[in-house]
Amino acid sequence: MNAPRRLHRAAAGVLAVFLAVHIANHLAALGGVEAHVQFMERARRVYRQPVVETVLLLGVVLQALSGLRMVWTGRHRRRGALAWLQAGSGAYLALFLVIHVTAMLAGRAIGGLDTNFYFAAAGLHVWPFVLFFAPYYFLAVAALFVHVGCALRRGQALVAWMSGAGIVVAALIVAVLMGAMVPVAIPATYLRTFGVVASS
Ligand code: HEM
Repeated sequence: MNAPRRLHRAAAGVLAVFLAVHIANHLAALGGVEAHVQFMERARRVYRQPVVETVLLLGVVLQALSGLRMVWTGRHRRRGALAWLQAGSGAYLALFLVIHVTAMLAGRAIGGLDTNFYFAAAGLHVWPFVLFFAPYYFLAVAALFVHVGCALRRGQALVAWMSGAGIVVAALIVAVLMGAMVPVAIPATYLRTFGVVASS
């Protein structure tokens, strides 16, 4: 195994635990926003520890860089639908990770916001931003499942199952964020970041 691939696998190991918790956290919102908030408060006690968060953010950078390098260097010898699906889903995830994590850190450091459920959901409640955020989040969750399915190298059937599961989970998470499954009232502080001024 070459160095970028070894690095990519090692970084994936670091990120996998956080991502399993992160996706479960978003699914917890099916039980209401309060269930999501309580879940996140417990999880943050671990992943917001400075050492843990530093390792996680380093994992994000290494994952995205090593992945993009493999997408590029392998472009001439890549054959077959699965290989292209793996590369395509990985390229999207790398792009998503950079935007997503930068937005979270900027929201905290510059906006002074608690980057909770409402921070993620606000854009889905303001026209026309919903046109960006709905596919942006949907594709991220679906691509994550597809990418892991391809990486497990157990053949097409597993990739098909993982893709199906990814589409269902992604649709549920986006529907919850949009307020289609449980009541969601976005506080004015978060709406203001999209230029919405609440009338009194
Ligand atoms: C609908 C899908 C998603 C939503 C709504 C979402 C939302 C969020 C929110 C609100 C945070 C801040 C958490 C906090 O302040 O404690 C966060 C952090 C993060 N998310 Fe996501 N996320 C989604 C999908 C993903 C996916 C697919 C990935 C990776 C492929 C990902 C990777 C991360 C990472 C690495 C962090 C930074 C954690 C930290 O250092 O505090 N997210 N996300």
